Amino acid sequence: MMKKNTKKRNIVLIGMSGAGKSTVGISLSYKLKMPFVDMDHYIARTQNMPISQIFEEKGCDYFRAIETETAKYMGTHYHNTIISTGGGVVLCPENMQYLKKNSVVVYINRSVEHILKTLKTEKRPLLKDNPLKLYDMYKERHHLYLKYADVVVANGGDFKSGVQNVYDAIIELI
Ligand code: S3P
Repeated sequence: MMKKNTKKRNIVLIGMSGAGKSTVGISLSYKLKMPFVDMDHYIARTQNMPISQIFEEKGCDYFRAIETETAKYMGTHYHNTIISTGGGVVLCPENMQYLKKNSVVVYINRSVEHILKTLKTEKRPLLKDNPLKLYDMYKERHHLYLKYADVVVANGGDFKSGVQNVYDAIIELI
């Protein structure tokens, strides 16, 4: 688990929608004085439309292709940056091959019960019609998150504990 000399590496946050990737990432970026980027925000900016609109107008496959391009770009060109990913990034092995290149990958694991209490599912294209789909998505993805993670951190419900746990784990690593 212990990896040294990670100072110039990226910290890539993976996990389900609502696990706390962005919240934890922004907080960590202040604490560690590292820049923060959210892959979905980057995609929305470069495509000039919100993620929900990309799904509606261009479809899921189009989004996934752009997600892979973005993973390639960030994995190749970004250093010393905290990168928050979309929950589905682990579905394509190529994405993780790029993102793992120069990074520590942190899986933020939060239970579906806790996620459903706080997640605004109407803003998530894959969940807006049926938020309970999260249970199946967790089953499908949990082993993938574990497979790609260098470190697994529990977000025990409230984001404060999530931030603190990730921070403690990262400090151990670097
Ligand atoms: C997705 C999660 C979303 C976003 C897209 C697809 C997924 O990101 O990338 O809607 O497949 O789980 P968040 O994890 O930030 O919600």
